[in-house]
This record gives sequence, C-alpha cells and structure tokens, in this order.
Amino acid sequence: MKLRRSSLSVPGNSVKMLTKSAESQADCIVIDLEDSVPVSVKEKTRNELPDILRQLNFGQKELAIRINSLTTGFAHMDLVQVIKADPDAIVIPKAESPEDVIYVDRLLTSLENNGAGTKMVTIQAIIETARGVQSVDEIAGSSRRLTALIFGIGDYLADTGARITAWTDEIAAMCIYARSRMLLAAAAAGIDAIDSVYPDFKDADGLRAESQKGAMMGFKGKWAIHPAQIEVINESFTPTMDEFRRAKRMVQAYEKAMEQGKGSIAIDDKMIDEAAIKIAQKQCAMAKHLGLWDQI
Ligand code: COA
Ligand code: MG
Repeated sequence: MKLRRSSLSVPGNSVKMLTKSAESQADCIVIDLEDSVPVSVKEKTRNELPDILRQLNFGQKELAIRINSLTTGFAHMDLVQVIKADPDAIVIPKAESPEDVIYVDRLLTSLENNGAGTKMVTIQAIIETARGVQSVDEIAGSSRRLTALIFGIGDYLADTGARITAWTDEIAAMCIYARSRMLLAAAAAGIDAIDSVYPDFKDADGLRAESQKGAMMGFKGKWAIHPAQIEVINESFTPTMDEFRRAKRMVQAYEKAMEQGKGSIAIDDKMIDEAAIKIAQKQCAMAKHLGLWDQI
C-alpha cells in the first residue's frame, strides 16, 4: 500500500523550498519544472536538479518530478535530465490522450534500459483540460506505470472558459462533473485519484472542509502548495481512530459470521452489507500500514 494523502508541489528552482519539503510530513513531493519555474530558468533548473536532490534526504516520501507539458520544447530533455535524479515518479501536466502517457512510458523504458535510475519509474497524469477530461478513461488505462490521476483545477477552469476572479469555496463543487469523471476512471483502472490544490493556503478551515468532502467521495489525497496545508490534508485523508475502531469491529464480526455460516450481520442494530465491509477492509489495511492496528 502506498499512501498519497498529501502531495506537496515545490518549485524546482528554489533550493530553500526543496530543502524544506524534504523535512515535511507530505506523503509525496512533486518537484515542479512547469508553471512555477519561469521560462528563463527552466533549462538551468532541470540541469542543476539532480545534484541538488543528491544532497537532500526525502526518507520514505514518494519523490515525483513534474516535467513541462509534452507540447513544449522542454519536455523531452526534462525527462532525459531529471531521470538522473532517480525519482520515483514523473508527473505529466495537461495530459490529453493515452499517447501522452505512452510517449513518456517508452522514453522512460529507453532511459532505464540505458542504465538510468535504480527502479521502474512510475507516472502520474494531471487531468486539467477539456480534452483531458474527455479522454480520461483511455488515459487511466494507458500504461502499467500509471499510479495516479490528479485533477488540476486552475488550468481546467481556464481551459473551459470559466469567468472567475477570486477563489471561493463553490469552485470545487462547480467542477464536480469533471472531478467525478476522473475519480471513476481512476477507480475503474485501479489507480489513485488525487484532488486538486486549494490555493488559499491561509484558510485552514476551508481546506479541511474541502479535503473531507474529497475524502468522502473517494479521492485518496490532495495536492498542497504550501507546507502549512500538509497536516490538515493528511488528517482529512486518514480515518479517525473511531472510524478505524469501527472498521476493525465490523471486519472481525464479519469474519466470525462467515465462520458460523451466516451471510449477514448486524452491528449497533444496523445491518452491515458487503459493500460496507469492503470499505471497512480498506480502512483496516490502512490502519495496519500506519502501525495503528494494535491501538484500535
Ligand atoms: N514547498 C516547500 N516550502 C515552502 C513551500 C512549498 N511549496 N511554500 C512555502 N514554503 C516555505 C517558505 O520558503 C517559507 O520558508 P521559511 O519559513 O524557511 O522562510 C515557509 O514555507 C513559509 O512560507 P510563506 O512565507 O508563508 O510563503 P511564501 O510567500 O514564501 O510562498 C508561495 C508562497 C505560494 C509562493 C509558495 O508557497 C509556493 O511557491 N508554492 C508552490 C507553488 C507551486 O508549486 N505551484 C505549482 C503547482 S500549482
Ligand atoms: Mg496546471
């Protein structure tokens, strides 16, 4: 099990922020070469990145690098260069077709066969354009390297012609069709769906409310743009101890009922169906992964 509750985006040209991200509690660090890095320093940033990363210790965190989008003149050499930093994953922005993922997959295979990296690099794709949403089913099933789809709300709003001047809490709800469609595509392909950034990084209450709604829908995590968002996101995408306890009770009662040849069970005077058991089993797996099993 790989937890992707929080993914912290870090501008690739800020050694200070890269250093800070390594010390953070984020499950995944996404080093950005795209929108947060000015065109004038893009080549310098990617060329210096492997040496900078060699001096930092990211511990158990998943280390991902977001390359520039595939229609820019940067993407190909971004990949060739950043593979030297031995990342766990490559993030493709503005993914619009299965061919986008296949292109990165093949290039990674070629680089790996040439001796680059120490492991099979995985891919995460950002769905943030109208074409990306329309092709999301094919994108989700396009490569065995693909582990997650991420919803990119800012570019999605720009691409679909939204008329927005300031961030409000209605915006995520407004994008419910695209977010749900991506969530379904990810679930059908057996990969993670990650919800979009919450740009107002000073508003912890708004972030918590939106993260909790995303977690209830089935998103596995959310992007963060600021270290202050990580704790709220990690908490929101982790069941509470009470939820874990209830899940354990349900699974144990279910296993006992099965042994006794009973097909259905009741807890607290409510019937527990197979679907509820599946949710509880996933929560139990997470509790074990987090080392909480003996405490619940
Ligand atoms: N990763 C790591 N460290 C970060 C960070 C990030 N994404 N964002 C801020 N920090 C650090 C700052 O360097 C600062 O460190 P210090 O206390 O050692 O000085 C500390 O956290 C507090 O930062 P703060 O002063 O509140 O914010 P800021 O004005 O420096 O930065 C942003 C605000 C929005 C510019 C910055 O958070 C950022 O660049 N975020 C990422 C943007 C991005 O990745 N965009 C592309 C994806 S949408
Ligand atoms: Mg974007």
